[in-house]
Amino acid sequence: MKNPFRITTLRPDDPFCDRERELETLVRHGLNGASVTLFSPRRYGKTSLILRAQSRIAGQGGYIIYADLYRVMSVEDLAGRLAKAVYEGLNRHEPLLEKGKRMVMRFFQTYRPTFTPTPDGGVQLDVRPVAGLSGYDLLENLLAEVGRFSEECGRPVHIALDEFQDIVAIDKGRTEALLRGQMQTHRAAYLFAGSRRRILRAMFADDGRPFYNSSFSMELPPLPHDALTAYVRDRFADAGRRISEQSAARVSELVEQYPYYAQMLGYFLFDGPPSPDLEDVGRAFNLMLDNERYAYQGIIDGLTSVQQALLIGLAREPGAKPTSKAFLSANGLTAGGVQKAVNLLRNQDYVAETDKGLILVDPVFREWLLRFF
Ligand SMILES: Nc1ncnc2c1ncn2[C@@H]1O[C@H](COP(=O)(O)OP(=O)(O)OP(=O)(O)O)[C@@H](O)[C@H]1O
Ligand SMILES: [Mg+2]
Repeated sequence: MKNPFRITTLRPDDPFCDRERELETLVRHGLNGASVTLFSPRRYGKTSLILRAQSRIAGQGGYIIYADLYRVMSVEDLAGRLAKAVYEGLNRHEPLLEKGKRMVMRFFQTYRPTFTPTPDGGVQLDVRPVAGLSGYDLLENLLAEVGRFSEECGRPVHIALDEFQDIVAIDKGRTEALLRGQMQTHRAAYLFAGSRRRILRAMFADDGRPFYNSSFSMELPPLPHDALTAYVRDRFADAGRRISEQSAARVSELVEQYPYYAQMLGYFLFDGPPSPDLEDVGRAFNLMLDNERYAYQGIIDGLTSVQQALLIGLAREPGAKPTSKAFLSANGLTAGGVQKAVNLLRNQDYVAETDKGLILVDPVFREWLLRFF
């Protein structure tokens, strides 16, 4: 039997654990034309949730557009990604290649879609800007077209911009202001999502920024323990296998209800003995740690020695005050540079300020640090 656990983004018809309330809220705001900012740590299920919400919005007659802005490089790159996402969205709704079905295309002139046959018999959609336009003009014209389209198409338009915070790297604020200036006139509902929470939050919560107070915000928590335990048991059952309540609960506890790790641990566990006991769960957890080590080493290698010492110190002592004398001396640090290092770790979302103080965001990474340092 195929392993029922998935470590990639879930498709709208894959089994999904909980998030019912969030889903219902996203769909409702989407159909109302209201915008939402969706925050969570990495691999908490933002993209899976967006795709699910959009699939429901499409089911109710809406146009859905999804663009991933991960590491967007320039304003042309941004405009091109948006244009491609728009055409993909329209194409899903009604194939743009079919003659007579291109009514929607009269709204869009800044980019031309191109269609290339793929070896598997499908078509690859790409976009090309019309001659004579470049830079900010591309973005501005395209957004104006999206605005007219959302006004006149007669249906809800829902536009998800994933990893939205990455637009701040494009320039010193001109893109952010341009986007906001255009979007606030649109009838479309925007969903801004991202995992670098501090940067994204600042865009919407600082009163000097263009997007200040322009959307509802939603933060994804870890999955509920009971729902996750049941989810693990159901995946085993779907695949004709059995796992005890106790072992499934241990899966949830070991990963602290972190969605990605729950799937990953489930995957390794399913790969092992038929009816896993608690020891099997522990063994699968070790396999998972081993499997993740390259990612963790990559994070460590990208940090300065001060940042590394700080991260390891916080792994050992969650909630510690990094500038306190005791913490500095326990971790071989001096006061100079610690605040800068804290800021970097927070901006990367490796650590976050919570009601328990400053802690590592990723509990499995924390466990790995504790074992290896
Ligand atoms: N509700 C859920 N039920 C079960 N598994 C989930 C759920 N949400 C997310 N996952 C799992 O979590 C992992 C990450 O999902 P997804 O890619 O949607 O998250 P993300 O927050 O967009 O991640 P990234 O930060 O990498 O963009 C996947 O392995 C997915 O299977
Ligand atoms: Mg994602």
